[in-house]
Amino acid sequence: MKTQLVALFASGSGSNAVNLIRYFNEHDSILIRLLMCNKPGAPVVEKVKAHGIEAFITDNAAFEDGNVIVQALKERQIDWIVLAGFLRKLPAPLVRAYENRIINIHPALLPKYGGKGMYGMFVHQAVIAAKEAQSGITIHLVNEEFDKGEVLAQYSVELDEQDSPESVAMKVQELEHLYFPYIVERTINSI
Ligand code: GRF
Repeated sequence: MKTQLVALFASGSGSNAVNLIRYFNEHDSILIRLLMCNKPGAPVVEKVKAHGIEAFITDNAAFEDGNVIVQALKERQIDWIVLAGFLRKLPAPLVRAYENRIINIHPALLPKYGGKGMYGMFVHQAVIAAKEAQSGITIHLVNEEFDKGEVLAQYSVELDEQDSPESVAMKVQELEHLYFPYIVERTINSI
């Protein structure tokens, strides 16, 4: 099989991006080729560059348009997009160009705590406010509706009365680092 080239989209701290880069380092059929980022100063940019990965920084206007991004991806022969902490909704031309080849991770058990405004600590605050007995992660394909693509995998973690949004965030991040690379690998290898 031809090596599958992956673009990571991330604009935050980049812990998942770095975890994915480490996992796929010297992988025999999957290569992380590029980081796409819409925030010039985001910590993720320097972190991925330190691993020798090209960072493509875009402004929001170019991103919204979609075609600039699609062209940049096609020029680099990118096969898959993995969203690892990317907060903007993807423009339609991009979703169409990579139909069924965009994977996202959401820090909750969708369909609960998904949709507009549900990102980062807002998710964990809502989980605690609702006194949920568990939270977790959802890894899913991306379509044109926010957080509504086909679910590839979910993993949960128990919560108790001692938990705070911060402790839930830590528990969820542990699941992300443990399972996200493996599900990305499984999904890419299944095609
Ligand atoms: C993760 O919680 C992920 O689920 C969400 O954004 C966060 C990114 O965290 N989509 P990091 O930048 O990888 O640490």
